[in-house]
Amino acid sequence: MTSSTLDLSGQTAIVTGANTGIGRVTALELARMGAHVFLACRSQERTLPVVEAISTETGNPQVEFLHLDLASLTATRDSAQNFLARDLPLHILVNNAGLAGVAGMTVDGFEITFGVNHLGHFLFTLLLLERLQDSTPARIVHVSSRAHTRPQTLDLEIVRLPRRSFLGRLEYSESKLANILFHIELADRLEGTGVTTYALHPGVIASDFWRMVPQPLRWFLTRPMITNEEGAQTTLHCATAPQLAKESGLYYDDCQVEQTSEAARDRELAALLWKRSEEWCTPFLGNPKSNRS
Ligand SMILES: NC(=O)c1ccc[n+]([C@@H]2O[C@H](COP(=O)([O-])OP(=O)(O)OC[C@H]3O[C@@H](n4cnc5c(N)ncnc54)[C@H](OP(=O)(O)O)[C@@H]3O)[C@@H](O)[C@H]2O)c1
Repeated sequence: MTSSTLDLSGQTAIVTGANTGIGRVTALELARMGAHVFLACRSQERTLPVVEAISTETGNPQVEFLHLDLASLTATRDSAQNFLARDLPLHILVNNAGLAGVAGMTVDGFEITFGVNHLGHFLFTLLLLERLQDSTPARIVHVSSRAHTRPQTLDLEIVRLPRRSFLGRLEYSESKLANILFHIELADRLEGTGVTTYALHPGVIASDFWRMVPQPLRWFLTRPMITNEEGAQTTLHCATAPQLAKESGLYYDDCQVEQTSEAARDRELAALLWKRSEEWCTPFLGNPKSNRS
């Protein structure tokens, strides 16, 4: 378990999808350790009470809402630009937001699970990369899932088509495979920069993640699952544990390094995913505004 005796004062962190679930606990614990924490979420209405609650519980006034809707590349770019315009360093980026079981497309015409879980985070991370590199040592944490082991590969020709599987299970697994492929390619590209990257499975958690399952089935399904507090531990470990400072490109489960699936170790696929994602995001990758000289 991560010790909250760590002192993160002077450090800035962004946690995506932090208004609920394990993202909320991650933001809370980072704030408790003294970091300036941004809760990057799509709903101001659902997030401001959480910002208030975290600030009150931790006594840390540096807890803020940052609008981020990962289902829109324009909104994602605006979010990164709004953060960069604050002229703050960035030491910890936790790409935690995620959804499953939802049918639909993003504003930019991607299947929504791929668009939110992978592509939005890809763009957000790339736009913040220079700031992370200016703030070293810095860490990027990708909340993936053991579900990444299901697909044998990732078909990048079909991510612009509507959902094809029952309950979107396949799309979710593929998006979590994409998280790890992005992470291993990023680790290669960041080697020697002082920015390290981590991917993880948080456990199976009784969070709002299961909101699409109707009651009382949801109650029965989530009863044996771990709590949000337990589920946030691997994320917090990757984001803060001093002994991981020199590790990069690895995958963790229950705070231990684990082997990923064969598809998730496919370097050619990782390079191809990066290339295609970069092409899709090109119109949004311009010159992020910054007050820094
Ligand atoms: N729960 C599990 O058993 C489990 C297992 C393995 C991996 N994971 C992964 O763990 C991460 C966190 O999940 P959780 O269990 O804490 O789920 P959760 O309680 O449902 O939280 C998901 C968060 O993602 C946000 N989000 C969804 N769509 C978004 C968008 N378009 N833009 C910005 N934020 C968006 C949600 O915001 P709203 O509240 O506005 O919807 C929410 O804050 C996810 O990446 C998930 O894939 C979870």
